[in-house]
Amino acid sequence: MTFREGALHCDGVPMDAIARATGTPVYVYSGGAIRAAHAALDGAFQGYPHTLHFALKANSTLAVLRLLRGLGCAADANSGGEIEAALRAGFEPSQIVFTGVGKTRDELDGAVALGVKAINIESDGEAERIDAIARARGVKARVALRVNPDIDPNTHAHISTGLRFNKFGVPLEFAAALLRRIAAMPGLDPVGIHVHLGSQIVDVAPLGRAAQALADLATEVRAAGVPLRHIDLGGGLGVAYDGLTAADPQAYAAAVLPAIRPTGLHLIIEPGRYLVAPAGALVGSVADTKAYDGSPRFIVLDTGMTELIRPMLYEAFHRIVAVTPRPGAEGPCEVVGPLCETSDTLGHDRRFGPVEVGDLLAVLDAGAYGFVMASNYNRRRFPAEVLVDGGGWRVIRRRQTFDDLFATEE
Ligand SMILES: Cc1ncc(COP(=O)(O)O)c(C=O)c1O
Repeated sequence: MTFREGALHCDGVPMDAIARATGTPVYVYSGGAIRAAHAALDGAFQGYPHTLHFALKANSTLAVLRLLRGLGCAADANSGGEIEAALRAGFEPSQIVFTGVGKTRDELDGAVALGVKAINIESDGEAERIDAIARARGVKARVALRVNPDIDPNTHAHISTGLRFNKFGVPLEFAAALLRRIAAMPGLDPVGIHVHLGSQIVDVAPLGRAAQALADLATEVRAAGVPLRHIDLGGGLGVAYDGLTAADPQAYAAAVLPAIRPTGLHLIIEPGRYLVAPAGALVGSVADTKAYDGSPRFIVLDTGMTELIRPMLYEAFHRIVAVTPRPGAEGPCEVVGPLCETSDTLGHDRRFGPVEVGDLLAVLDAGAYGFVMASNYNRRRFPAEVLVDGGGWRVIRRRQTFDDLFATEE
């Protein structure tokens, strides 16, 4: 997303032209930015056997998944629905790892029946349930153990997952014993160990410590006869929401590979945000403006927490820009959505020049954890999504209709 001749463009296509054609709100994704992020991350690990399993939770729109599959990504799914999305996008079961802290019996049975690459086990009880399901089916299920290493990833508390008081994984000191038990279960094939510290991590040092903890664990349990094949370091790489500080893939690889290399095990990483966040913008139209003495100046958009809940959920910052800025002095303002909630504020204390009803504003870096978290609150319809790629653009998901909205009701 860049400004050219005073207007925001996506891969050379004017955003104004896209949004006027589709209406707003609309998510616009840059195929070029996804390709560039993939090349940077994949390139950083060249020279060591590895696979990027794209974390579908960040963005599971089928056209985006197909693009990433075409680039060589495999998939990380977090629910039966995400496994279905991966299959519909063309991923093979052998390319899917299945993670998740509360997998249901049906989801586990489905994953065992499919023969996914690995089910990432969260607890002793889950290991026993998968073993029973696999034995009932007369198969061995490939599993990896998710370890909680109690390492602080220095990110927002709501997206931190690798601390002991977080609900995820098995504490490190119990992991070796459980892996030995798993190896003895007739229905389980312990192929890997897994960790995911959290999301939006820009300091790679904690990721390096987690890699070392897993490498040490791998060495210990392999010596005890557990035949591991991979180490899965999860996702977590952060992007530059402020336009300045992103995680550096080279630094990430340099932090984790010295620990992983001596094991010789295949390396899996599960990036979500890094691959797609900077590629997406949420474009809305100005529905109203108001400025009264003693009150803030409000810019009210036709989009808000129903399309992008990150600012309200995580106090997340997203840059917001006018698609075609008007000349004139800038002043402070609140950029808010149309929802009947005070928290429906996309940008607090921002600066904008003159803005009129009908003008387009773009919320940047919205390609991850954006559409996937959309809701129909206030009976609002899901927005359209557009992919700009190969010199043109196309609608990859049409806007929900009112018929779609009521289709499942009595
Ligand atoms: C297990 C697991 N893997 C991968 C990811 C993707 O993380 P990110 O989008 O930060 O790369 C997540 C997200 O929280 C996750 O829970």
